[in-house]
Amino acid sequence: MAPEPTLMEKLVSLCKRRGFIFQASEIYGGFESTWDYGPLGVELKRRIADAWWRDVVTGREDVVGLDSAILQAPQVWETSGHVAGFNDPLVDCKTCKGRFRQDKLDQSECPRKPSKHPGEHTDCELTEPRKFNMMFKTQVGPVEDSAATTYLRPETAQGIFTNFLNVLNTMRMKLPFGIGQIGKAFRNEIVTGNFIFRTREFELMEMEYFCRPEQGEEMLAYWVQERHDWYLKYGIKPEKMRRRAHEPDELAHYAKSCFDIEYEFPWGWDELEGIAYRTDYDLTKHAQATGKKLAWQDPDTKEWITPHVVEPAAGLTRNVLVFLLDAYAEEEVGGEKRVVLRLHPRIAPITLAVFPLVKKEGMPDVAREIIRLCLPHFPCFYDQAGAIGRRYRRQDEIGTPFCATVDGQTLEDRTITVRERDSMEQVRVPIDELISYIVERT
Ligand code: GAP
Repeated sequence: MAPEPTLMEKLVSLCKRRGFIFQASEIYGGFESTWDYGPLGVELKRRIADAWWRDVVTGREDVVGLDSAILQAPQVWETSGHVAGFNDPLVDCKTCKGRFRQDKLDQSECPRKPSKHPGEHTDCELTEPRKFNMMFKTQVGPVEDSAATTYLRPETAQGIFTNFLNVLNTMRMKLPFGIGQIGKAFRNEIVTGNFIFRTREFELMEMEYFCRPEQGEEMLAYWVQERHDWYLKYGIKPEKMRRRAHEPDELAHYAKSCFDIEYEFPWGWDELEGIAYRTDYDLTKHAQATGKKLAWQDPDTKEWITPHVVEPAAGLTRNVLVFLLDAYAEEEVGGEKRVVLRLHPRIAPITLAVFPLVKKEGMPDVAREIIRLCLPHFPCFYDQAGAIGRRYRRQDEIGTPFCATVDGQTLEDRTITVRERDSMEQVRVPIDELISYIVERT
């Protein structure tokens, strides 16, 4: 008998089957653990990004947004220390010819081990580690000389530091304040894998919070708590999260201290988000390299201050994986297996599915009318195919929190049955009150 698929296998299969995530270049056999987000996946990702943007940027008086370029002057990466210091330890195996990241041996497979279990390197004869720079080099312009070489950004943060003065002056910001940004980042990772957990192209949600030097530690504690509570707000199970301080030898080259918010993935506890205390490292370096005064003048004391920075940095694509893993559940209902994604209603790709009970007697027309009414308020989906129970199951599997059914009574009194995904309870709601009913519950 074939073994029961693992949770990750079930999730990868659901994501493909239901249009969340596809292998990139699939018709060519796929490409190096890169992934495309399908109609439901792009919606899920956008809704997580929207929730972050609302809570971390637009919902706060002290934070503004930015969208800087992926390509920046190469000097930016020299100055930031990424050219010299954004390295991982690479080891080669003389026996199996594999290449591994020394500190992630437990997550990489030895090509000679038929079991394909990560972490089995008993016969490996590893070389001494050497530094491998993770930035993707690229050529800008048609002439292949060194002046045209730059890098795809490995973090969005540097675009924030290089725009520090522009934002300060145009928005007349006062300490403490933050600049948030969501966007693509690229890292030539030695080890990729675990689906979308670690990829070479991914998306970041980052915020640089500038404060007075003496406020640094306090702001670090504040943001660790804020970000932890943010995941709880959107339904991540508290027992699956923990905070962990970095050991001195783990710290990135720019960080004085750092906390990870970790999630208990199927392979164990691993990083979901990092909150780093970058001090004045970046502003000072860029000021030295450019001769610009990257500082803020206290209007009362006239003192010039180079702010310190606390940076909550979350992987958006890694968030997608965590929201999916955390939401996935299997249960038995009426003797049948039900797969359900218990996604928070603000995160779920579709908020409301509308079904006509039968395909006649004007029910499809009323269902379409409801969709037209609701679509400006939240994402909706129309389905008239198959038995009603099967239609519920299809929506459960993609996390739709509400299903509304148009039946015979609807034609008489303009009420519909609204069924809630988790409790499976059904209530009758007048069509006129449906939007407020749903909005109050999302
Ligand atoms: N600017 C700080 C910074 O980039 P980081 O800890 O290197 O910090 C932040 O990255 C977050 O980005 C991580 O906590 C993780 O969620 C995500 N991340 C990092 N590398 C990733 C990769 N290769 N694939 C997917 N997500 C990644």
